[in-house]
Amino acid sequence: MANGSFAYKKPDACAFVIFGVTGDLTHRLVLPSLYNLAASNLLPDRFCIVGITRKEASSEKLREDLLKGLRRYATRPVEDEVAKRLLQCVTAIEADPREPESFDQLKMRLEKLEANRETGGNRLFYLATPPSAFAPIAQQLGRVGLLQEDGDGSPWRRLVVEKPFGTDLASAKVLNDKLLKILNEHQIYRIDHYLGKETVQNILVLRFANGMLEPIWNRHHIDHVQITVHEKLSVGTRGSFYDATGALRDMVPNHLFQLLSLVGMEPPARFDAHTVRSEKAEVLAAIQIQSEDEALRNSVRGQYTAGRIGDTDLPDYRSTEDVRPDSATETYAALKLTIDNWRWAGVPFYLRTGKALDQKRTEVAIKFRQAPFAMFTCTPVESLAENYLVIAIEPTQGITLQFNTKVPGPTIRTEGVQMKFNYKDYFKAEPATGYETLIYDCMIGDNMLFQRADSVEAGWKAVQPFIDAWKKAGREGLQTYAAGSEGPEAAAELLIRDGRSWRKPG
Ligand code: BG6
Repeated sequence: MANGSFAYKKPDACAFVIFGVTGDLTHRLVLPSLYNLAASNLLPDRFCIVGITRKEASSEKLREDLLKGLRRYATRPVEDEVAKRLLQCVTAIEADPREPESFDQLKMRLEKLEANRETGGNRLFYLATPPSAFAPIAQQLGRVGLLQEDGDGSPWRRLVVEKPFGTDLASAKVLNDKLLKILNEHQIYRIDHYLGKETVQNILVLRFANGMLEPIWNRHHIDHVQITVHEKLSVGTRGSFYDATGALRDMVPNHLFQLLSLVGMEPPARFDAHTVRSEKAEVLAAIQIQSEDEALRNSVRGQYTAGRIGDTDLPDYRSTEDVRPDSATETYAALKLTIDNWRWAGVPFYLRTGKALDQKRTEVAIKFRQAPFAMFTCTPVESLAENYLVIAIEPTQGITLQFNTKVPGPTIRTEGVQMKFNYKDYFKAEPATGYETLIYDCMIGDNMLFQRADSVEAGWKAVQPFIDAWKKAGREGLQTYAAGSEGPEAAAELLIRDGRSWRKPG
């Protein structure tokens, strides 16, 4: 995330090499983002896009396919002139990690292209591939020397890796080890698309550009924190991926922990990638590691059954294509976590996420401690409205503060009201994919919005007991909830037994 003074810096000349160029991610997000950057004149002046194809394909054919995808997924009307300028940069080159010699060819062809396009040898390799291909591709690129950086002033080489980064702590460590044998940490850009969201980046600004919050942002004033990522979307056509993954792995160590770390981190001394990422890693490392028994006590998992969302009937999760009929995979997860440090000791962080729910809602709700006693006659403290600061990430984008106020009239009666800030009331932004900032940042070499190896591993470490305990328990303890509902009833219990309740999202 560039500082204001650098906001419009053009990236260095470079080659943008996409593995998985014919895939969904490239069509949906990467190309539309490059288009938006091109439309804002934020691509390098000397630039080329290399689409790596498994089989030989002509550049012309690839450009046609990319244009079709762009017309389908662009977030703003596609202007022919901009699309043409962008697609002129595209060249198809064949390479397949299962055929190592194809990477020797790739090296030769890429270097020739770079010389023609005068990109100076700066390269960004974007792995929009299934995760099983991350290490093999990086290894081949490393073997032929395409990732090598020779030090100050020499061309840069960067690798962008998509989610999921590992499927548990052990596999994330193995992947980090493999990549770090080939690249230095500063060359690796691990994407979590949540960090591309304006409202997520704004958590940093809300906390650290406003002096009024820091004094109360701690255990003395905050009772607990709720992080909610509810989706209406079902598993859809992703049965095979999802059934092997589940809600916990799919969402918690990455997206929900991004929110947790931004809310929980200590104030960084400087606004630079190293300092900010170190503070985020620190707070993740301070999440108390639970035993498997504790993990079972402090969690609820559920699977959706047939139901109705809006006017669409949804079948049982277990009858989804490519899902095992006896699957014990959770489509909903709720956890209670604690953070062992001075700021947060004794302040639970409740996290919940699920698919096929009644509404799409991503938000962080900070619940402040109740007023210690209510001096107003006939107003016991319990009847006061709860004091919440709610950071709405999506689809509503804004911040709400809930507090008590006096109802007009001759007697003192109180009622909870809300002070609301909505992004759309203040700012007009071009519709975007959310990837523009991330792609731009890769090109200017700012990795603040990317996950560092230690954060990824700290995240997996904190969820590992839940993964293990749930695996052992199988279907025992797995709750069900009807598609289109608010989730399993047992999720409420997780808070009720602490004398708390989930805030109704929205
Ligand atoms: C992805 C998950 O990483 O995030 C999906 O794999 C999920 O299952 C998506 O639907 C949610 O993203 P967002 O931005 O819609 O909250």
